[in-house]
Amino acid sequence: MGRKFVVGGNWKMNGDKNQINEIINNLKKGPLDPNVEVVLGIPAIYLAYVKSIVPENIGVAAQNCWKVAKGAFTGEISPAMIKDVGADWVILGHSERRTIFGEKDDLIAEKVTHALESGLKVIACIGETLEEREGGKTEEVVFRQTKALVPAIGDKWANVVLAYEPVWAIGTGKTASPQQAQEVHASLRNWISSNVSPDIASTVRIQYGGSVTGANAKELAACPDIDGFLVGGASLKPEFVDIVNATK
Ligand code: 13P
Repeated sequence: MGRKFVVGGNWKMNGDKNQINEIINNLKKGPLDPNVEVVLGIPAIYLAYVKSIVPENIGVAAQNCWKVAKGAFTGEISPAMIKDVGADWVILGHSERRTIFGEKDDLIAEKVTHALESGLKVIACIGETLEEREGGKTEEVVFRQTKALVPAIGDKWANVVLAYEPVWAIGTGKTASPQQAQEVHASLRNWISSNVSPDIASTVRIQYGGSVTGANAKELAACPDIDGFLVGGASLKPEFVDIVNATK
């Protein structure tokens, strides 16, 4: 099927120049598996700095953006600005944007459309809360979130990575088991096959995110429908190298 493994490090609102230098120096030492695509999600204010020191083979992502190119939107950044400082990616629809900042499927879809039209690649995040999982609604929720993205993505699936991040696993140390993650990834791929196309279902990369560590990455990476990770806390630590190399 040839889906290139893709590992994202989502730094969230962490890091200062000293810590960033340490992280990047550690990644330069690696060694990183050259068959794996690596993308770092950087706080907006450090995007240009990271871009100026990171090796060419590591992608740089913003963690959010607004849905138009410019204008009176105090505090926001646009895909055009992200591209202008040399970054190629944006993470959209992260559960922290959804829950803390109240972003709904519709707004996320508008952002995805504009980001893709502007030439950015998008890591689009979906995932159920603990309450939804315990209520047996996991599939309903992730299908609804994915359905909202379909018209937004249009024919640009090649520039999209989906990140399945169960909210109950984010920052909790409670990783989904490989079986739990594989089950959702496989049913998402089936849904995409039926509702978008079999070709896109077989080529789209689906990352798992939620308490991924150097210790559990290999077992998760061995699942057939897990095509990478979106890593929070551990992406700030030296073990991120082991996570990148989890398929070796
Ligand atoms: P943790 O790896 O810290 O659980 O965070 C996952 C995440 O939200 C990545 O986007």
